[in-house]
Amino acid sequence: MACEFDEEVIRQGTDSLKWAKFSDEVIPLWVADMDFVAPEPVVRALARRIDHGVFGYAIDLPELKSKVCERLLVGYGWEVGPEAIVLLPGLVTGLNVACRAIGTQGDGVLINTPVYPPFLTAPTNQGRQLQVAEQARTTRDGELYYDVDVDALEGAVTPQTGLFILCNPHNPTGRVFSRSELEAQAELCARHNIVICSDEIHCDLLLGESKHVPIATLDPEIEAQTITLLAPSKTFNIPGLGCSLAVIPNAALRAQFKAAARGIVPDVNVLGMHAALAAYSHCDQWLAELREYLIENREYVVDFVKSHLPGIQTTKPEATYLAWFDCRELEVDEGPFRFFLKNAKVAFNNGAHFGPGGEGFVRLNFGCPRSTLREALERMQKALEDRP
Ligand SMILES: Cc1ncc(COP(=O)(O)O)c(C=O)c1O
Repeated sequence: MACEFDEEVIRQGTDSLKWAKFSDEVIPLWVADMDFVAPEPVVRALARRIDHGVFGYAIDLPELKSKVCERLLVGYGWEVGPEAIVLLPGLVTGLNVACRAIGTQGDGVLINTPVYPPFLTAPTNQGRQLQVAEQARTTRDGELYYDVDVDALEGAVTPQTGLFILCNPHNPTGRVFSRSELEAQAELCARHNIVICSDEIHCDLLLGESKHVPIATLDPEIEAQTITLLAPSKTFNIPGLGCSLAVIPNAALRAQFKAAARGIVPDVNVLGMHAALAAYSHCDQWLAELREYLIENREYVVDFVKSHLPGIQTTKPEATYLAWFDCRELEVDEGPFRFFLKNAKVAFNNGAHFGPGGEGFVRLNFGCPRSTLREALERMQKALEDRP
């Protein structure tokens, strides 16, 4: 039976970064936004606010902060007061502010690669030194799988390390870290007195049994040294509205974070806040249906890769709408990103941009109608079959 997510919405000519970057014949499965209409309560809330017609400076919506606190309590038993919430115009802004807030010029920021590219640039943007540890890559049931490599992390730590940026659920591997994996990383940070900045933007996009555990909920000491970054943008497909947030229960750490943002980071725009409030308040049913659809898309991708794309191995993501393809066995000279763009007219994210461990990989965004996904995968198959 067709559902709302099957609808092929025309996005060409609508200011969409995803659709404008490549020529019209290319199917864009790159940047992380979905080709779905946002939930109706969000669209209605925006229309109501726009109808008022006055768009002066806004206060931080108190209802939004209360709603975030309520979701953290109901979802994870995490009790935080509204004062702990700092609204931000973007989550990448939060990554950069965290790097700026912690330590001084030349201090180290630890990350786990391959990872969402702004993790690689935020530290150096802010005069910090990037410290990289690769995750452990393995295979499970014929699928690509990543484990946290605590020894590699430990090996990358130096006396200068002040901050660890965690991505959980992980982009691009789709891992949802278990409590014990989080404990191992938190223990390491506590032992070396490292602040944690945990990007949990994908935490509502769980595709199955995995449960999300915010690292700050492990224990009060970890909470006191953690900045958690969240946003409704990926989940409810409103990234263009720019509304994210940091949860920082420790007042001193929060003051440090706010001081690093002062005068540089603007307030969140009023439409973004109203959209976020509606998304967090009225869209749980939409989200449940979205997750069902994404699970089916994930299965479609995994099955297709296994049966029709020899030489490629894929993750089976536990969360996100992102699959990560290991294409190294294809041995294409120009790399898989360029090969598929040129020969299949399908645009992915180039794995080389995700840091060590990303070369020879591409990231595929399956947040699109199944018909689009099918067409893209069939084009990939044909491009591989047509190779001399
Ligand atoms: C892990 C992660 N963090 C942050 C972002 C972007 O957040 P924002 O658009 O709010 O800066 C993305 C978008 O893909 C992401 O995957």
